[in-house]
Order: sequence, then structure tokens, then C-alpha cells
Amino acid sequence: MLRDLAETFRPVAPPQLIDNAYSNDQHSRLLNVVRDNGPWPLILAENFKTPEEVIATTSGAIPEGVTLTWDMIGLNPVFRGYLARGGTCFYPEIEDCYYNSRFLELVRNYWGCQYAEPETFLFNIQGPTPIGGPPHLDGTVFRGMTMENTPLWLLLTMAKSRLFDRWRSKKGQVIAWYYNGRIGGGFNCWPDGPSGQAMQINAPMWGKAVVVENEMMFHHGQATGPVAQRKPQGMDISTTFGADPENPTGWQLATSGKINQKVAEQDMRFLVHWGARLFKDMADFRQTYDHSDDIGADQAINMLIADMKTRGVQFVEPTDPLHDNSFVALLSQVYDIGGPSNIPADAMDEAA
Ligand SMILES: [Fe+2]
Repeated sequence: MLRDLAETFRPVAPPQLIDNAYSNDQHSRLLNVVRDNGPWPLILAENFKTPEEVIATTSGAIPEGVTLTWDMIGLNPVFRGYLARGGTCFYPEIEDCYYNSRFLELVRNYWGCQYAEPETFLFNIQGPTPIGGPPHLDGTVFRGMTMENTPLWLLLTMAKSRLFDRWRSKKGQVIAWYYNGRIGGGFNCWPDGPSGQAMQINAPMWGKAVVVENEMMFHHGQATGPVAQRKPQGMDISTTFGADPENPTGWQLATSGKINQKVAEQDMRFLVHWGARLFKDMADFRQTYDHSDDIGADQAINMLIADMKTRGVQFVEPTDPLHDNSFVALLSQVYDIGGPSNIPADAMDEAA
């Protein structure tokens, strides 16, 4: 395990807390978009094709000889939808939330950069849930290699290796929460590296937000809601979260037309993730948009293979590395950088 690498993961600046991320009017328009355009899929269903790819993102190791299944990974009942991507906001009624001058200024100041462009706008929505998996790093991109042309596991492996920092995009997020429940539901992060103290942002959190660089800081959501309701029965990878047609403020989890769980307004946790890409100055901006210093998948794979050889790893070179599960598993094993082990205890019902 490459613990020394893990310790290098620190955000460009300490997380910065803000209040009233969105106005009441903006919040209600955001929530209406979610109610009117659902139901929404599991996060896991969207990002991964195989359980090995999940492991590559969570710094875990796969024991030799073990074939992973979805059952072994577990299905955390957290759901996601996209509100905008790149220059396009999918819902005109929330354009002011996305092309957000206040947020652009916040991330420019956070990074000390001259320019910023909004890049991602998505939400997580959930009822009661267990802890949001082990602390993780968010997916990063590199000049020439993005979510559009590169699988997430490769982007994350590249990030964890620290071999590709020259090409790594500068990103900043404003993560906002709306959760009025009394049990858990907050956010844990490790701005001083994985062996440092966890910083906790605790619920209730209504419009509370944090300016962060989540690609370079381990973080996860806290367990949320009543313990007995955190593992709804009968879920599979197709389970969705949407408005309860029988309750104008309620929500429900459903699988193939069957309702797994009803979630009251009070127990629903809504996270709004706004992300931007930063450019230090005009030269940085031009280099990105001129593609004068891009990296491609072949070069990245070759660099990872060369690095593994330097580290003395024994392996057979893959013929089709991008679609070779055993190579994906090997990379996740070699670049298993670990993560924080000092995870604060879950909030239990008694703490309410
Ligand atoms: Fe994350």
C-alpha cells in the first residue's frame, strides 16, 4: 500500500464554509426540477460497470482469487441526477444557480486563479443511509483525458499515482446541503491528509456549503437518518428515487415498480454539487483550449506500466488494457494508497 502517496493528498486551500448557498427561491426551483424530472438512479448504477471499478475508486484492495459481485460491494441508497454539464444547463429555470457569479468568485479566490468556468452541476438525494462508503477522492480529469473519453477508474488511478499532475485540471466545488434531519447526515473530510484530523460539517444543514477541492481531499458523507431505516429491502442496481405521487413533499425508493421505502420530507437529504474548472491565467487557459500539451490514454497506460515496473511489480502486459478486468484489478491493487482510518463514529438514534 502506497501510504506515502496518500499523505500527499491535500486540497489547494482549507475548506471554506459559507451559508445561504442558494436563496430560498433558488432552492425551491432546484427541488422542483428534482421532483418533476425524476425518478433518479443510484450513483453506483451510473458510474460503474464492474465491481472492480468501484474498488479502484475507493482505495480498497481485492484479495487474490476473489471475484467481486454487486452483493459484496453493497448498494448504498444514494441517488444522483445531473443538472448541467460543461456550458449547458439542462433546466432553464435554474440557469442562475449554475452560471453563478458568486460561486465563480468563491472558487477563483479559493484557488488564486484568474479565470473559472462552471463545469458540473449535479445532486445527490437520499433518505436514511449507512455511511457513504470509505472516504474517497472525487474523479479528476487531465488535459486530453476527461470523462468523455476515459473510464473513471483510469482517471482515478492516474490521480492516485500522482504521475500526471502536470496535466491535471484545477477544479473547485461548492457543495451545499439541505437536510433538516437530526441524525447524522453531515460531511467528513480530511484537509490535512488522511492521517490528519477529520473535519466534520454536521447537520442540520440548510443551505450550508463548503468550497473545496474534493479531487485532492479524502471525504465522505456521514450515515444519515434512523438506523433501522438505513438499509431498505429489495433494492438492486436499477432502484430509483423520486417524488411520492401520493405526498406533495414526500419521496420514495422503487425497484421495478415496487416501492422499497417512503421517505418523508424531514428525512430527505439533498446535496447540490456545483463544480468549476480553474485557469491560473491566460497562458494556462490557452494551453488547455489549444490542446498544445494534452495527454492520451496510450501515454498514460505506458507511464503506469513503466512505473509499476520501476516498483518491481510482476505482471503480464495487457493487450487491451482499457477493457481488461484483471489489469484494472492489478492497478487498483498497486495504486491502493489507502485512506483515512480515523473515521468518526456514526451518529446513532440516541444522539438525536
Ligand atoms: Fe465525493
